Amino acid sequence: MPAPNSIKPGNQVQFTQAERTREYLGDDPDQSRLWAERYLLFVKNLTAVFDGFKAVDIEALGVEHNELRVIIGPNGAGKTTFCDLVSGKTPPTTGQVFFDRDEITGVQEVDIARRGIGRKFQTPTVFDSLTTFENLELSLPGRQGLWSNLRRATTPEEAGQIEALLERVRLIDERDTEASQLSHGQRQWLAISALILTNPKLLLVDEPAAGLTDAETALTAELLLELRADHTLIVIEHDMDFVRQLNSFVTVLNEGKILAEGTLAELQDNPEVIKAYLGR
Ligand SMILES: Nc1ncnc2c1ncn2[C@@H]1O[C@H](COP(=O)(O)OP(=O)(O)O)[C@@H](O)[C@H]1O
Ligand SMILES: [Mg+2]
Repeated sequence: MPAPNSIKPGNQVQFTQAERTREYLGDDPDQSRLWAERYLLFVKNLTAVFDGFKAVDIEALGVEHNELRVIIGPNGAGKTTFCDLVSGKTPPTTGQVFFDRDEITGVQEVDIARRGIGRKFQTPTVFDSLTTFENLELSLPGRQGLWSNLRRATTPEEAGQIEALLERVRLIDERDTEASQLSHGQRQWLAISALILTNPKLLLVDEPAAGLTDAETALTAELLLELRADHTLIVIEHDMDFVRQLNSFVTVLNEGKILAEGTLAELQDNPEVIKAYLGR
């Protein structure tokens, strides 16, 4: 069996129709185990039903180790709810979620975070009255909760780690700037940095380019692509220019279901996708 969804070196992603997750999913119950081994994240028959309304209804979706997967879809398609299901914020109505070989269906949100799924919300959590550096100190491992922060000072190693990260996200010049003074893009990068410090295996990033300038959007795309070296990412996005810059495998959600998957170029030629989304 050939490796599905394999990411070729560089930014270029080449897929054939036969490589799509769903193509491989047989009726054999042992397939779940197989896919859980193969993918970092794998969901099967996943639904979220609210008052009889199916917000998410995904037969199968797998994200490879060190893949950057983009999920697009019109408003209300179920993108954020999908993140809620994966991160444990919302328990699935039916179906299974496998992460890093283990089934995590029904596991508490904090425990899922501990296992290595980090999430950046649409509105980033940044403390305005603290500097960029201080904001990141709060995200150091073992620092959650005010009491633990008061108890111990940042070690030189930790400071070095934060500074290296600030270099990476182009915020080193803003090290001692109060977060209230940062631009919207810089705040997004700070929120992403805080997430990276917790060293998640999988990052769920919901609409990172919303409200950014073109230059900030380009930098965000560059940054997310760099993160693929050490992390796996699911990026939810609306902005097509941004999706183009990410140049990665795209899953299109529509009315909770996977409508199509492929490169953006492939999807732009797909009449169903045009009808549901791109043509709007
Ligand atoms: N907790 C909830 N209760 C009821 N309906 C919800 C809940 N969460 C999401 N929905 C509904 O599910 C659908 C998908 O929402 P969402 O996942 O936020 O879409 P997207 O992020 O793609 O814009 C929407 O119709 C929304 O109103
Ligand atoms: Mg959303």
